[in-house]
Amino acid sequence: MKVIVIFGTRPEAIKMAPVVKELQKRKELETFVCVTAQHREMLDKVLEIFDIVPDYDLNIFKPGQTLTDITIESLKGLEEILTTVKPDLLLVQGDTSTVFSGALASFYHKIKIGHVEAGLRSNNLYSPYPEEANRRLVSVLADYNFCPTDSNRQNLLNEGISDSKIYITGNTVIDSLKYTVKDDYEFEDEVLKKLDFNSKRFILLTSHRRENIGQPMKNIFNAVKDVLNIYEDVEVIFPMHLNPKVRKIAVEILGNHNRVHLISPLDYFEFTNLLNRVHFVITDSGGIQEEAPTMGKPVIVVREETERMEGVDAGSAILAGTEYKNVYNALDSLLKDDKLYNKMSEVQNPYGDGFSAQRIVDIILKYL
Ligand code: UD1
Ligand code: UDP
Repeated sequence: MKVIVIFGTRPEAIKMAPVVKELQKRKELETFVCVTAQHREMLDKVLEIFDIVPDYDLNIFKPGQTLTDITIESLKGLEEILTTVKPDLLLVQGDTSTVFSGALASFYHKIKIGHVEAGLRSNNLYSPYPEEANRRLVSVLADYNFCPTDSNRQNLLNEGISDSKIYITGNTVIDSLKYTVKDDYEFEDEVLKKLDFNSKRFILLTSHRRENIGQPMKNIFNAVKDVLNIYEDVEVIFPMHLNPKVRKIAVEILGNHNRVHLISPLDYFEFTNLLNRVHFVITDSGGIQEEAPTMGKPVIVVREETERMEGVDAGSAILAGTEYKNVYNALDSLLKDDKLYNKMSEVQNPYGDGFSAQRIVDIILKYL
């Protein structure tokens, strides 16, 4: 049986890597990896770390790419590859434009589709944008929906997806953490190397979502900057996404603060070990919301909605929104209220147990 795994961005690569490794272990399967390279630099770093050499690379990335560019170039490139490989199953992960194009290309060729991280819903088509639409569109086409949690399964059932196509597996992002996070890890990054994580409280900041670019992102960064002026023992580390629109706002608002470290995106080992050392995280990222509870790190989610309510419900995350005052208040509470902090950091990770890839591949072998 031939399985082709398609991905294109940093988070898809991180979350698909354990699945690729598990597929490659099984002798009954012939595994092919195809990257669209919707991201280039940020994708290549992950491929290198996990030692994955793609069989096919569409190399579609171009600076300033639009959603249409990504969709058309991926769809066109995949056509040729699917015709050549003729796989029995195509796997996609998550909700990017690569994922939507991968599923659509597969459907056009009547190839079965497995969707890893299926069933997440914010119930607002414009937040996250365009991801909420991408994941809904893929659910219509998928034959195997690998849901991280039971509430993801419930979302699919509510949309009329048959239970026979749904499997609860946990999120593969947790699988990777077992291999990366070490308490005695030594940083390679020149900035991180010099920081004393014992004498100060460090906040890890990331923000890149399309719907936050503009005023919401300005609100978030201004709240971070202003709260720093109250707490002198606090520093902020922001490994900035390569999107120039994000970097411009970050440099304008946070660039001159002596307790803010604006750095390049970190490789996955560095990033997850940084997550393990900081006091807490403020982010609009999806994957980071899922990773942080494994290390007992509270998360302030700077989005109006999150499709990952499990963390909020379990008490490890605060959904702060993107209004200045709400973001400021969330930061202030978590910095001043030790009881709240301790309660949030004791929550068990609701997203997975580290064995999701194994479950997914077992299901593929049993039912395909
Ligand atoms: C994409 C996904 C988003 C995911 C994010 C992960 C879509 C529509 N969005 O958003 O769901 O959360 O990836 O990070 O699929 N850039 C580089 N080099 C890179 C990568 C990006 O320079 O290696 C810059 C380019 O200027 C590019 C911009 O970032 O135009 C945006 O990249 P793009 O893939 O279009 O969207 P993301 O915001 O990264
Ligand atoms: N990440 C990384 N380096 C960084 C920032 C994030 O390796 O500098 C990892 C992080 O551990 C997580 C993933 O990238 O697994 C999240 O990616 P991102 O926030 O770009 O996308 P999202 O999860 O929101 O789709």
